[in-house]
Amino acid sequence: MWVKMKEIIFLEERRFSMKKMAKIITILVVVMMISVVFVGCKTQTQTSTPSQNQQQAQQTPKNVSIVFAVGGAPSEIDYWHKVINEFEAKNPNITVNLLRQPMDSATRMQTLVTPLSGHESTPDVFLMDVAWVGQFAASGWLAPLNSYVSQDNYDTSVFFKKVLDLADTYKGNLIALPVYIDAGLLYYRTDLLKKYGFSNPPQTWQDLVKIAEKVQNGERKENPKFWGFVWQGKQYEGLVCDFLEFIASNGGNILNKDGQPVLNSQNNIQALTFMADLIHKYKISPPSTYTEMTEEPVRMTFQSGNAMFERNWPYAWGLHNSDNSPVKGKTGIAPLPHFPGHQSAATLGGWHIGINTYSKNKEAAWKFVKFVESYDVQKGFAMNLGWNPGRQDVYKDQEVLKKAPYLEKLREVFVNAIPRPSVPYYTKMSQVIQKYVNAAIAGRMDPKTALDKAQQEVEQIIKQYGSGS
Ligand code: GLC
Repeated sequence: MWVKMKEIIFLEERRFSMKKMAKIITILVVVMMISVVFVGCKTQTQTSTPSQNQQQAQQTPKNVSIVFAVGGAPSEIDYWHKVINEFEAKNPNITVNLLRQPMDSATRMQTLVTPLSGHESTPDVFLMDVAWVGQFAASGWLAPLNSYVSQDNYDTSVFFKKVLDLADTYKGNLIALPVYIDAGLLYYRTDLLKKYGFSNPPQTWQDLVKIAEKVQNGERKENPKFWGFVWQGKQYEGLVCDFLEFIASNGGNILNKDGQPVLNSQNNIQALTFMADLIHKYKISPPSTYTEMTEEPVRMTFQSGNAMFERNWPYAWGLHNSDNSPVKGKTGIAPLPHFPGHQSAATLGGWHIGINTYSKNKEAAWKFVKFVESYDVQKGFAMNLGWNPGRQDVYKDQEVLKKAPYLEKLREVFVNAIPRPSVPYYTKMSQVIQKYVNAAIAGRMDPKTALDKAQQEVEQIIKQYGSGS
C-alpha cells in the first residue's frame, strides 16, 4: 500500500507543484496519525474488557501456521498438497506448511528424531512408520490425543481396533492414528502369465521360480532388461520387511513368543538361502537387488514392463494402473507365495499421524489430524493413491471397491499381516538384520554365518536393554 502510494506520488510529481506536494504529505501524515489513535483506542478497549476480548477471540480465531512433515513418492507428495489446500480452504485461519521428507523410512525417522530430541516445537504434526511409533511414544515425543477425542466426542471405533491397540496406544493413551495400512503383496503380469501357458499366479516360492524362469527366458529374446522377480533387497528397513515375509512363509520368525531372538533357526537359514538363490542360482532377480532395490526402483522396473513378478506395497497398484503406465490393465495382484507346508505371510506396514508434544499449536494440529482421517480424505487416498485406508468404514464404499477390487479379495492378507517386533530396541535390531541379510544376498557371507552373527548381536542389544520385552 505504502509502496503504491509512493509510486503514485512519484508519477504525479511532474504535474504538481512543490506546494501541492507539501499539502499531500500533510494530509497523509494526518491520516496516519488518526489511524494510530484509532488503533490505540481499539487495543485499549480490548484490554479494558476481558470478557469482550474472549468473545472476540472465539469469533475470529487468530491465524496460526503449522508444519506438517511427510515423505513418500512424488505422486504422494503432490496429493498431500491437494489435501492441504482443501484443509486450508475449510480452515482459513490455519496455514499448513509441508515439510517434505524423503521416501526412505529410516531417513524420515532421523529427520524427526533431531528436532524432537531437541524439544523443538516444529514439525507440529507428522507421519510415522508403524515400525517406530512405539519408540516415539516411549521417548515421550507424542502428545496424547485422549483429551481431544473426548472434547470432540470423536469416534475412534471407525479405525481397526487391532491396529489402534497394537500401534497407536501407549500406556493406555492414544498417541497416534493410522493414516494408511500397508501389507506386502505380489504383483504379476496377467498377459505374460497367459502367454506362457499358466493359469494362476504362484502358490509356492518354487512355483514362482518356475514361472519366472520360463517367462524371463522367453522375454529376454526381445528385451534383455527383463527380470523374473523384483523385490526390496538394499540394506534398509524395506529389506527387513521382505526378510520377515520370506522367513514367516517358512514358519520362521525374528523373536519367539517370549521376546527372545530366534534369527538363526533352520527355517530362517533355509528362507535366506532361497533369497540369495533368487539372485545367484536361479538368476531371476537382478544383482542390483542388494545394491539399489527399494520400493520405487522395484516399482519402476515392473511398471516399465521389465519384470514378471514384483513384491511391493498397495501404493504400487494405483501407479501401475495410471493412464500412462505400460502395465495398465495387465497387472494382477495376489498374496505372496509360501514354502511348502507353510502359510503365505505379509509384513504389516503403514503410516500413522501424531502430534509433537512440544508443538505450540496442538489444537490446530488436531484439526488437521481430524481432516486427514475424515471419510472423504481417506476415500481420496484409496481412490487416488491406492492406499489401504486407516478407517475401516471406507472399505465398504462401492466406488473404492470398484477402483481397488483387491481390498475385498485380499482382506485376509491385510487382517493377518505380521507386525515387526514392537520393542524399544527395534531400530538397533533392524540395523543388524539389514546388515547381515544384505551381506548374505550379496553373496559376501553364507546365510548360516550371517544369521548366527545377527543372532549374537541382537542378543547383545537385548542384554543392554535389560529384557526381551
Ligand atoms: C512402507 C511401509 C513401512 C515400511 C517401509 C519400508 O513405507 O509402510 O511400514 O517400514 O515401507 O521401506
